[in-house]
Amino acid sequence: MDRPDPKKLFVKSYGCQMNVYDAQRMADVLAPEGFVETQAMEEADIVILNTCHIREKAAEKVYSELGRVREMKKARNAAGHDTKIVVAGCVAQAEGVEIVRRSPAVDLVVGPQNYHRLPDLLKQAEQRRGVIDTDFPVEDKFSVLPLPSAKKTLARGVSAFLTVQEGCDKFCTFCVVPYTRGAEVSRDTDAILREARNLAEAGVREITLIGQNVNAWHGADEKGGVSTLGALLERVAAIPGIARLRYTTSHPRDMDDSLVAAHRDLPQLMPYLHLPVQSGSDSILDAMNRKHTRDDYLRLIDRIRAVRPDIALSSDFIVGFPGETDRDFEDTMDLVRQVGFAAAYTFKYSERPGTPAAELTAQIPEHVKNDRLYALQALVAAQQKAFNAATVGKTIDVLIEKPGRDPGQWMGKSPWLQAVILDEPCRAGDIVPVEITAIGTNSLHGRIAGPVRSAHLS
Ligand code: 5AD
Ligand code: SF4
Repeated sequence: MDRPDPKKLFVKSYGCQMNVYDAQRMADVLAPEGFVETQAMEEADIVILNTCHIREKAAEKVYSELGRVREMKKARNAAGHDTKIVVAGCVAQAEGVEIVRRSPAVDLVVGPQNYHRLPDLLKQAEQRRGVIDTDFPVEDKFSVLPLPSAKKTLARGVSAFLTVQEGCDKFCTFCVVPYTRGAEVSRDTDAILREARNLAEAGVREITLIGQNVNAWHGADEKGGVSTLGALLERVAAIPGIARLRYTTSHPRDMDDSLVAAHRDLPQLMPYLHLPVQSGSDSILDAMNRKHTRDDYLRLIDRIRAVRPDIALSSDFIVGFPGETDRDFEDTMDLVRQVGFAAAYTFKYSERPGTPAAELTAQIPEHVKNDRLYALQALVAAQQKAFNAATVGKTIDVLIEKPGRDPGQWMGKSPWLQAVILDEPCRAGDIVPVEITAIGTNSLHGRIAGPVRSAHLS
């Protein structure tokens, strides 16, 4: 007898790495239900929009995307293919019932803490449209989610994300995350190690531990005490096959001594740190409720560079926070000049309803925000270019990830998260020494300069 065609699932993710990870886990939880992923929305029986709420107009973008998805659903339904629309992620959490009110074609709204219940929620959605689950459940979704097969894991690439922590208690005055993702929760050490081993056994070579506040992670150590992220990294580094480790996103307040020491002691821990500072002005940092000063940040960078001089730094910046003067902005520019970043994400402040900063009266005019954003972007672009240019002529280790865009090309990553393009045959998962010959806009180009240093085992 012919097997029925598998049902198809299309997930579109917006925003941060947490959403990329969540999208994969949603696919994992639906795999036993007979769903396979597709890259084409038009052939999907379930369309999930995995949304992000961090900046302005996020919800409006979702509603306009839903307009398009609704048309597709109508066409598929008319052709006799039942199609379900699911809204997941932080907009789902923040908007809840409003989504089905404004977009009646939506079958299910599910928050980031509830997607382990997708099979059950979809069954409910068979009975009635507009099922909503945005509770913060008592059970831990991770303990319920299945681990993907080795084949599926490797199909996702030799570099994987692993969520170790979720939520945030920091309440920066501009930010919605503490409201949408809830309080800080750390995953259990054993569960993390089990998942990391599963990744390694499948052939994954690089793991990035992720969390909204990843360095706030804490868990039980082997002796029943409390361990922090530095100790966790050490235990993940000991797993055979894991050649590279990273973690993101960190808060300056949670960079403890053990984490700084990990940068000194663990060769697997890559010399790249994303450490958002947001502003270089003390009065703005205070108004943002960051609970660190400019000087705290600079001294922290000194401590990290003292143990790992080749570390590359990246950061997030917000310009035009309410009350930001020319002088405050100049302090930000000055901090950037002092630190020297390899990369940075720059944002114009956007008002998020319900956050304390949205109540502040001294909002900055749009044209001032634009001017500051351009100035800051020009500065960080120049720093990034200089950082990349400094690799030309050097030989660096590259983890080969996948074929490049052109035939015969391969793409990998440097220890400093730069994309490296090669025009030679390679094997995903190998780490090869590459002499950098040129820099492009978003990548480095190079040629293999020696034998494979560390081979993909499977
Ligand atoms: N306006 C502008 N940028 C924001 N971010 C978070 N909230 C806002 C906001 N209201 C930025 C911060 C954060 C990054 C993920 O998004 O820089 O680190
Ligand atoms: Fe938002 Fe601040 Fe928490 Fe980062 S630390 S998620 S910016 S509240």
